[in-house]
Amino acid sequence: MNIEWDAKKYTDDFSFVPQYGAGVIDLIDLTKARTCLDLGCGNGALTAEMQRRGLRVTGLDASPELLQIARAQHPDIPFMEADAASFALREPVDAVFSNAVFHWIDRERQMAMLSCVKKALRPGGQFVFEFGGKGNTARIHSALAAAFSARGHAYRMPFYFPSIGEYASLVEKAGFTVRAAWLFDRPTELKGEDGMADWIRLFVRTPFAAVPAAAEKEAIIREAVDLLRPQLYRDGRWYADYVRLRMKAVNEA
Ligand code: BEZ
Repeated sequence: MNIEWDAKKYTDDFSFVPQYGAGVIDLIDLTKARTCLDLGCGNGALTAEMQRRGLRVTGLDASPELLQIARAQHPDIPFMEADAASFALREPVDAVFSNAVFHWIDRERQMAMLSCVKKALRPGGQFVFEFGGKGNTARIHSALAAAFSARGHAYRMPFYFPSIGEYASLVEKAGFTVRAAWLFDRPTELKGEDGMADWIRLFVRTPFAAVPAAAEKEAIIREAVDLLRPQLYRDGRWYADYVRLRMKAVNEA
């Protein structure tokens, strides 16, 4: 993963992340699944929702801070700390679910992650997921790139946002059969007048390693926000230009 989380800020101000993910759970055929792994479970909100729907769930995440919140809020759910691209389960599960996680994993590590998922699923098991797809937050990143460049810094895109074609072919190469795929816009409202600046501060970390002075970092964020205002601020609200890639695949026996 490319981030150290501000787990409290994420839970308090970005609760839409798990809210939107609930639709992905609908892709699981519950008549054929009893056990499920939530890969990149974060604070466990969706793990708990799957438990409410009758699944025996396990949450996995690399962030000890988020797992601390998950364990405190859901003491009856088992959570494990592990890297999504190098984990192993003791027993295979009937379904692997993931929401808003895979874009944090570099392109070079995606196949390692998919191989772990394949080993974690029983034959016939279901793999359902959603994350940022091609074009996700493109306006935000191009405003940041312009603000970095205006101050003589290079902006390196820190996320992986593939097309349906690119990702379906990786999933197939890992040994799955892709049953359905969608790429769709989901403009996502951000909380408060400072919502866009807060989103950048929370989620865009690694590019700012090249900008050590806090005052310059804030100046870049302000400049990017000014560039984005005519595009993503409407009727007193900020919207992030999210594009979601959603898929269902099966581990054919
Ligand atoms: C997303 O959910 O699309 C996302 C969240 C944080 C950073 C980048 C993308």
